[in-house]
Amino acid sequence: METVTVGLMPEVLPLGIGTWAWGDTLYWQYGQGYDKASVREAFRAAVAAGITLLDTAEVYGLGESERLIGEFCRDEPKPLAIATKFMPLPWRWGAAAVTQALQASLDRLQMKSVALYQVHQPVSFLLSQRTLLHTLAAAVRAGQIGAIGVSNYSAAQMREAHHLLAEVGVPLAFNQMPYSLLARQIERNGVLATAQELGVKILAYSPLAQGLLTGKYKATAPPKGGRQLNPQFGADGLFRIEPLLRVLQEIGAQFERTPSQVALNWAIAKGTTPIPGAKNAAQAIENAGALGWMLSSDEVAALDRASQHLS
Ligand SMILES: NC(=O)c1ccc[n+]([C@@H]2O[C@H](COP(=O)([O-])OP(=O)(O)OC[C@H]3O[C@@H](n4cnc5c(N)ncnc54)[C@H](OP(=O)(O)O)[C@@H]3O)[C@@H](O)[C@H]2O)c1
Repeated sequence: METVTVGLMPEVLPLGIGTWAWGDTLYWQYGQGYDKASVREAFRAAVAAGITLLDTAEVYGLGESERLIGEFCRDEPKPLAIATKFMPLPWRWGAAAVTQALQASLDRLQMKSVALYQVHQPVSFLLSQRTLLHTLAAAVRAGQIGAIGVSNYSAAQMREAHHLLAEVGVPLAFNQMPYSLLARQIERNGVLATAQELGVKILAYSPLAQGLLTGKYKATAPPKGGRQLNPQFGADGLFRIEPLLRVLQEIGAQFERTPSQVALNWAIAKGTTPIPGAKNAAQAIENAGALGWMLSSDEVAALDRASQHLS
């Protein structure tokens, strides 16, 4: 299995762990059904399984996700690749606002540097992409950031970011995008092809479609929190994906793997690095089981066919 380089960390396994839900009460209902103890166990289980890439953001849990990671990492001797994100909020309009936000993230993480710092959204307001990216390039030179990434950037926006960073001799390392069997837009809108052309790696977010691809949700028992507003979790949405879930189940049975593990392995087979969220040790262990084996090209093609009309 190919590995990825994240900043100064080579040989990172092509599967990370996403931590949006750690500390987030607005969308994920942190504190109800899972808590600090269970996400600490998720952290420990993931690291024990060889996962070294952790994705967070300054806005997750209004900083709580970064604070929890900082605390958990204090007791963890293994070197980990921490990826966090800068949100271009409307009142952040100069280079100083960017360096302050980075320093605040480093303070919450209790770290001197992060492996990857990503621009969360391609919004600009008064902060130009040139100022933003050139400020981040200076932070790379200062040793505070190993690599620069963007997130939710279209093919054209990614090309522009790549160009602006090339002006100052820094590569654009990653574009973090929604990608799963239920979100295959990047295959059609040029993002995947442009990333390959530019040498930009894709971090696949929501790779389990926020839990839909686990097959555990039923119309009679939908999830609570923000996902209730997503029609994909309604009766019609769940009915629509049943044939795909059957294919995931059938393929998984051949490998003694679960639908989640097959769905994540499919994203890896497509050359991306998925970062599934996990709220407890059991989820983290199951997701790490997407590594160490590979779907055949026929199985990937079968999953492509079963999902082609679903996004
Ligand atoms: N850049 C961006 O704009 C952006 C946007 C979204 C996400 N992200 C990143 O991507 C990460 C992952 O995306 P996501 O959290 O939206 O969705 P996801 O990874 O597709 O789904 C995560 C959720 O699915 C359930 N789950 C995960 N593994 C499971 C397992 N093995 N068995 C059963 N249930 C399981 C859990 O929720 P339940 O147990 O409650 O079902 C978990 O919180 C985030 O944490 C974040 O780091 C980035």
